[in-house]
Amino acid sequence: MSDTYATITVETQGRVGVITLNRPKALNALNTELMTEVVGAAKGFDASPEIGAIVITGSDRAFAAGADIKEMSSKSFADVQSERFFGDWDALAALNTPTIAAVNGFALGGGCELAMLCDIIIAGDSAKFGQPEINLGVIPGIGGSQRLTRAVGKAKAMDMILTGRQMKADEADRLGLVSRVVPADQTLSTALEVAATIAGKSAIASSLAKEAVNRAFESGLTEGVRTERSLFYSTFASDDQTEGMAAFVEKREPNFQHR
Ligand code: HXC
Repeated sequence: MSDTYATITVETQGRVGVITLNRPKALNALNTELMTEVVGAAKGFDASPEIGAIVITGSDRAFAAGADIKEMSSKSFADVQSERFFGDWDALAALNTPTIAAVNGFALGGGCELAMLCDIIIAGDSAKFGQPEINLGVIPGIGGSQRLTRAVGKAKAMDMILTGRQMKADEADRLGLVSRVVPADQTLSTALEVAATIAGKSAIASSLAKEAVNRAFESGLTEGVRTERSLFYSTFASDDQTEGMAAFVEKREPNFQHR
């Protein structure tokens, strides 16, 4: 991608798109410009057949310390309501392409919510997750009260959201908020490895698999199983299903064409 950005850097590594939040002085606080850039870059990767997974990361000190409080502080109810403040973040959860958050340091408020918008969270052992909005007299607004509760259950979510306390990586791992915890200096490399593995699969199958898992998050068991069954059937309309199964029978590696 040739676009230039003010608040992020964007690169590709093979079939993996990498978005790095880059507002170090503000601990990668999420302002509107950054949201627009991240969502735009992610949609660009999603539209590219050359990209099979997206990694979103920050710095060693902070993945992101939340929504930019300085930008938000003077807004009124009418402002946030009429501009659908931060509503564009929802587009990240709707991507076909699997997304991986590589988290070191603070992932607080909107930063924790951004990580949870991703399909997989790889956490460094320095990572600290939290929803401290209560300390500012507000509540989570990018899905935190919903996704955190589904991820860790009501008891822990209430604890986090009502006290604003931070949760270290080992607790987040125990509770199932994150997929893996690794030494902090290996967070990005691990995320890139996982992303490269996913990007090597059939892009059609991975997007349908992601849709099926997300349905478990959003619906009851009967509807979820029904959705999974019909998504499973639809994989039989793809060339990649023919190739994947032929490769197994012929004892060779599949050569997926992502169609
Ligand atoms: C704007 C922020 C910021 C934020 C940190 N900074 N977090 N600026 N918005 N969310 C800035 C600080 O003002 C400071 O800049 C610089 O980053 C370094 O921060 P320090 O506080 O000096 O660092 P430290 O003492 O190490 O403390 C780190 C911290 C603390 C624990 C992460 O910064 C903190 O509590 N930040 C706020 C976390 C938070 O409340 N997040 C939730 C936001 S609400 P200057 O220039 O002053 O030195 C939210 C709602 C989402 O996310 C929903 C919206 C729809």
